[in-house]
Amino acid sequence: MTQTPSPVAAPAAASRYDRATIVLHWLTAVLVLVLFALAMLWDFMPHDVHKQMQSLHISLGIVLAAVLLLRLVWRATRGRRLPMAVEGLQGKAAKAMHYLLYLLLVAQVILGFAWRWAQAEVFQFFDLFPLRFADVRNGPLAHLFGNLHDVIGWTIVILAGLHAAVALVHHHVLKDGVLKRMMGGGRP
Ligand code: HEM
Ligand code: HEM
Repeated sequence: MTQTPSPVAAPAAASRYDRATIVLHWLTAVLVLVLFALAMLWDFMPHDVHKQMQSLHISLGIVLAAVLLLRLVWRATRGRRLPMAVEGLQGKAAKAMHYLLYLLLVAQVILGFAWRWAQAEVFQFFDLFPLRFADVRNGPLAHLFGNLHDVIGWTIVILAGLHAAVALVHHHVLKDGVLKRMMGGGRP
C-alpha cells in the first residue's frame, strides 16, 4: 500500500535546499575562510611554515575548484532551487549577490591556477602528485594575476561577510526561517 505523504512534512521539506546543496554550500564557506586565513597569516610565519601554508593553500584551492564545479553542475541539473525568500528589490539584490559570489569564486579559482602557471611553478596536491603546466614563465602576467587574485580574494570575503550578516538578521531579527533553508534537519 502506498503511503500518503504528510500534508505538513511535504511543504516543510520543499522549502529547504536539498542535502547536497547544503553540504556543498557549507564546504565552500569553510574552504574560502581557511584559504583566506592561510594567505593572511603566512607572512608572519617562519620560512618553512610559510611555505607549508602556501602548499596547503594551493591543495585546498584545488579542492575548492572541484567543490565549486560539483556545486554548479548540481545546481544546474538536480539541485533544488527555491524562489527568493523576499520579494521586490530586496529579493533582486539577494539574487544578484548570489550570482556575484559564484562569478567571483570561479574567477578566483581560474586566477589561482593562472598565477602559478605564469610563475611556471609546479602545483603539488597534498604532496601526492604534481600538476605540471607548460613552462610559460611571464613576470608581468604573474604580477597582474597575483594582484587580481588578492583583490578578488578580499572582495569575496567582504561580500560573503555581508551575505552572512543578512542571513543572521533574517534568523535573529526577522525570524523568517531563511537561514534554516540552508540548514539540514528540523523544520524551517
Ligand atoms: C576564494 C578562495 C581563495 C581566496 C580567498 C584566496 C586568497 C589568496 C590571497 C589573499 C593570497 C595572497 C595574495 C598576495 O600575497 O598578494 C593568495 C595567494 C595564492 N593563491 Fe589563493 N585564494 C583562493 C583560492 C585559490 C585557488 C583556488 C588557487 C588555485 C589552486 C589559489 C592559488 C594561490 C596561489 C598560487 C597563491 C600565491 C602563493 C605564492 O605566493 O606563491 N588560491 N590567495
Ligand atoms: C564564503 C562564504 C559563503 C559563500 C561563498 C556563500 C555563497 C552562497 C551562495 C552562492 C548562495 C546561493 C545558493 C543558490 O541559490 O544557489 C548562498 C545561499 C545562502 N547562504 Fe551563503 N555563502 C557563504 C557563507 C554563508 C554564511 C556564513 C551563512 C550564514 C550565516 C550563509 C547563509 C546562506 C543562506 C541562508 C542561503 C540561502 C538564502 C536563500 O534561500 O534565499 N552563507 N550562499
